[in-house]
Amino acid sequence: MSQRHPRRLFVTTALPYANGHFHIGHIMEYIQADIWVRYQRMQGHQVHFVCADDAHGAPIMIAAEKAGLSPQQFVAAIAAGRKAYLDGFHIAFDHWHSTDAVENHQLAQDVYRALKANGLIETRCIEQFFDPEKGMFLSDRYVLGGCPKCGAQDQYGDNCEVCGAVYAPTELTSPRSALSGAVPVLKSSEHFFFRLSDPRCLALLDQWTQSGAVQPEVLNKISEWIEPGADGKPKMGDWDISRDAPYFGIEIPDAPGKYFYVWLDAPIGYLAALKSYFDQGGAQAACGETQSFEAFMADPETEQFHFIGKDIITFHTLFWPAMLHFSGRKLPNAVFVHGFLTLNEGEKMSKSRGTGLDPLKYLLLGMNPQWLRYYLAAKLSGRSEDVDFNPQDFMARVNSDLVGKYINIASRAAGFIAKRFDARLGEVSSDGETVLDQLQMAAPLLAQLYAERETGKAMREIMQLADRVNSYVDQNKPWELAKQDALAGRLHDVCSTCIEAFRLLTLYLKPVLPALAAEVEAFLCIEPMQFADAQRLLGAGHRIQPYRHLLQRVDAQQLEALFEPSTATAEPKPAPKPALPGGQALAPTIAIDDFAKIDLRIARILACEAVPGSTKLLRLTLDVGEGVDAQGQPLTRSVLAGIASAYQSADLVGQLTVVLANLAPRKMKFGLSEGMVLAASDADEQANPGIYLLAPWPGAQPGMRLR
Ligand code: 2FM
Ligand code: ZN
Repeated sequence: MSQRHPRRLFVTTALPYANGHFHIGHIMEYIQADIWVRYQRMQGHQVHFVCADDAHGAPIMIAAEKAGLSPQQFVAAIAAGRKAYLDGFHIAFDHWHSTDAVENHQLAQDVYRALKANGLIETRCIEQFFDPEKGMFLSDRYVLGGCPKCGAQDQYGDNCEVCGAVYAPTELTSPRSALSGAVPVLKSSEHFFFRLSDPRCLALLDQWTQSGAVQPEVLNKISEWIEPGADGKPKMGDWDISRDAPYFGIEIPDAPGKYFYVWLDAPIGYLAALKSYFDQGGAQAACGETQSFEAFMADPETEQFHFIGKDIITFHTLFWPAMLHFSGRKLPNAVFVHGFLTLNEGEKMSKSRGTGLDPLKYLLLGMNPQWLRYYLAAKLSGRSEDVDFNPQDFMARVNSDLVGKYINIASRAAGFIAKRFDARLGEVSSDGETVLDQLQMAAPLLAQLYAERETGKAMREIMQLADRVNSYVDQNKPWELAKQDALAGRLHDVCSTCIEAFRLLTLYLKPVLPALAAEVEAFLCIEPMQFADAQRLLGAGHRIQPYRHLLQRVDAQQLEALFEPSTATAEPKPAPKPALPGGQALAPTIAIDDFAKIDLRIARILACEAVPGSTKLLRLTLDVGEGVDAQGQPLTRSVLAGIASAYQSADLVGQLTVVLANLAPRKMKFGLSEGMVLAASDADEQANPGIYLLAPWPGAQPGMRLR
C-alpha cells in the first residue's frame, strides 16, 4: 500500500438499480462507506467518494413501459428521490451520476474495444426463449411455468421456490412469457462473450485475489470459481456480455441491435461517475485536485476501493478486475464486502421486496439518523457476516451507550463550568490526567479499527473509555463538590477533566456521528477536529459555550410506529388478475408529504410542433405562469410529450393543461424537456390506445398550483 501522505483515495459503493427507492440495505452500505471515508478524511487523506444510478437492463425497461414512461424518464424520477435519503442519513457522496450518462457510454465502449483488441471477446450463437408477442428474448426470470421436479405452477425459469430445484427455462412444463402470457419459442441469436476462461484472465485473478485485495472468507468463495475442479477446469466460464434489442443499455460498437448486458457497464459507471465529478470541477473545488481524471486514474499512487454486498462478489472480484486490467487500467486496491441486514434474526431485508425497516419512514417519523448510524456502526465489522437489526437492542444501545454513557459526561460537567467558572476550563490534576492519558492512548487502536472497518470493536472501545470517565465522575461527585465553596478548585478540576474527555470521545465518534460532532465543536469553540487532535487537550483557560442538550433518547412509540405495517410501505403484491382500474393496479398508498413534493401547475400551450425523426413526440411550448421577459412576452418552457398519435397542433394551441413543473429537466434524444404534461391512458395500449390530455375547468390560469 502507498506511503504517500496525504493518500489519494477513490471510493465507491455499489450502484443501486434505478427501479426503486433505497431500502435499508442500501443505507447500511452507504453508512459503512461514509464512516470509512470520514475517518480517512480525519486522517488528512484526500478522498473522492462517488456513486450513481445503475440505469440499464431489462427490468428497468419493462418497469418504465408499465409506468408509461421512457426508461430515461423513469430513471430520472427515481434519481430525483435519492437526495432526501442521502442528506437524511448524513451520507456525503461527493458526486452522484448515472450509468446512462454519456461518460459511461464512452468508457464502456472503450473498455470493450480494448478487450476485443486483446483477443478476449468472441461470438457464439445461443438458443433462448423468445416472446413472439413482445418481440424480445426472455431472461430466465421472465419465463414462468410448471416445475419439472415437483410440478408446482407459476415457477420462474431458473429455480423452483417450492422445492428448490434448479433447471433451465426450457425444462418448465407449459412455459409462458411473464410479460405477455404468450407461449415462448426457441430462437437462436449471436451473443458476445468475454473470455474469462482464458489463461491470462485466470492467472491475473489468481494473483490479484491473493494479494490481500479481498477478505479471507471472500477469497475462499472466489477460489471455488477460479481453481480447477475435478474435470481440471475452473467453474468460471466465459461471460455472456451481450443482449439483443429491445434493451435499455449501451450499444455494442459495430454490432447493430446488440447491447452490453447491464452488468458490463454498471461497474464502469464507477469510473464514469468519477470522470464526471472531475470534469465538472468538483474534485478541484473540494480538495484542490490538480490532475485530470485520466491522470488521476493512471497514477500508481491513486488507491481504489469498492464497498459492496456479498451477493455481488463475482461481478466485483472476477469480472471487474479482468475488465480493468485487460483494458489497460489499474486494479482496485480492495473490494470490501459486507453481509446482509436481517431483522430480528429473520429473513434478509430483501432488496427487491424492501421488507422491514423503511428508511424514509424512519426519517419522516423524526427519528435521529445518528441513532441508526451508531447502531449499525456498533454491529458492523470488517467481515462479510450478516448484521441483525433488533428494535429493542437498538433502543437499549442508543439510550444506554450514546445518551447514558457519552452525552451524560458533558451534561454532568458543562453546567458547573458555565455557572461557576465563567465558562473557562481549569487545570487538570494528576488523577484526571490519568483518565485523559488512557483516552489519548486509545487513538492508534481506534484508528486501526476504523481503517479495518471494525467499527463494532471501535464502538465497544469508545464506550469502555466512556465507562472509565463515568466512574471518575462517580468517584468525585461534582454535585457534592459544588455544595462546598472550599472545594471549588477541585470541582473546576473534575469538570474540566470531563470536558476534555468529552472532546476526545466526540473526536473518536466523529466519523459515525458527524452532525453531533459539529454541534460539539461549536459548543467547545474549536475548529473541526482531525484525528491528530487526539494528541492535544483544550487546556486551562479555554472558553466554551453554554451547554444545550445534544441528543434525545430513542422514543419507544416512534420505534413502534416504525415497524407498524402501513399500506404505504407494505410489500408490493403481485398485480391481481381481475379487472383493474385503467388496466393497472393502484400504486401503493402515499402520505400527503409525498404528494407535496409534486408541483403540478396549470400551463397554457402557446405552440406545438412535430418533432422531426419521432412519430410519437410533439414539442409543446408552455406558459407556466413564470413571468414575462423584457418584451413582456411570457417566459416559456419546452416540453416533449408522447401524444402525437392522439393530437394535432391545431387541437392544442391556446388550450390549458396540467404540467409536472418540478420534474428535473431531462436531455432526451430529441432535445431538452423541461417538465411533463399529464395525460391519461390505459395500461394496455394495444387494446385501448387512447391518450387523453388533462384540461382544467374554466377559470384556471397558467401558474396555478394543483393541490
Ligand atoms: O446489485 C445491484 O444492485 C447492482 N445495481 C449493483 C451494481 S454495482 C456496480 F457494478 F455498478
Ligand atoms: Zn419444484
